[in-house]
Amino acid sequence: MQEFTTIASIRAALRDRGSRSLGFVPTMGNLHAGHIALVREARARNDLLTCSIFVNPLQFGPNEDLDAYPRTLDADRRALEAAGCDFLFLPSAEELYGKEMATSTRVQVPELGNDFCGASRPGHFDGVTTIVTKLFNIVQPDDAFFGLKDYQQFLIIRKMTHDLSLPITIHGIATQREPSGLALSSRNGYLNPEERRQAPALYRVIQDIAKGLRGGDSNYAGLIATATRALADAGMRVDYLGIANANTLAKATLMDKDLIILAAAHLGSTRLIDNQLVSL
Ligand code: PAF
Repeated sequence: MQEFTTIASIRAALRDRGSRSLGFVPTMGNLHAGHIALVREARARNDLLTCSIFVNPLQFGPNEDLDAYPRTLDADRRALEAAGCDFLFLPSAEELYGKEMATSTRVQVPELGNDFCGASRPGHFDGVTTIVTKLFNIVQPDDAFFGLKDYQQFLIIRKMTHDLSLPITIHGIATQREPSGLALSSRNGYLNPEERRQAPALYRVIQDIAKGLRGGDSNYAGLIATATRALADAGMRVDYLGIANANTLAKATLMDKDLIILAAAHLGSTRLIDNQLVSL
């Protein structure tokens, strides 16, 4: 695996790939089995594979965990090399944004980012779409891979790629889970032992809603109210919990066949998200 920290050097290395296909997995590091599932899928589908590790300041709000975000570069390097990564891009914030991040150009996808994580984290998705566009322009992959745990992010990046006519296929990879059902996330590392015991309730409650929907319950508001109470009983503070159209993220109607249950909840100072697709 070759490493690069500058845009010029990774561009030069990727320039002569001829007809070999290039996969790309952008990450913020602190890699777990969820990331490695993306890397393996990318590896299987492409001749060459680039991964990036960059904790993007532009997608963190002023009171979020940018400084505390776990950085585990040595372990990440080993995991990427073992999973077959060919090129690792490790830029600094200055390399990507210069000294003027606050006034640099943003990429914004309207509407899809209005609700759910977009409402709770203003500006977050503009930070994501801006960095992903920049990375796409630098790496110029054929395929790019994102985890479906961040379902809203996945939809936004897929739409952005389509709207900007970028010649990249966006792949969404299934969420990896602990045996308890808890979705793997870098932020699980913030949980204390008691919170770790409580955390699987998020997925359990989402599964209860999914079971209700599949069983024909069309009282969406009732399902959400019951689930909200269950999360509070499990010690969580709900940020959002909703049933939406899986393609538009508009509030689900009885006409919708492809639904997504989306949830975010605070456990102590940690914010966890999860979701479940349901096809009726
Ligand atoms: O999902 C993430 O880890 C980040 O949002 C991404 C896509 C790497 C952009 O910084």
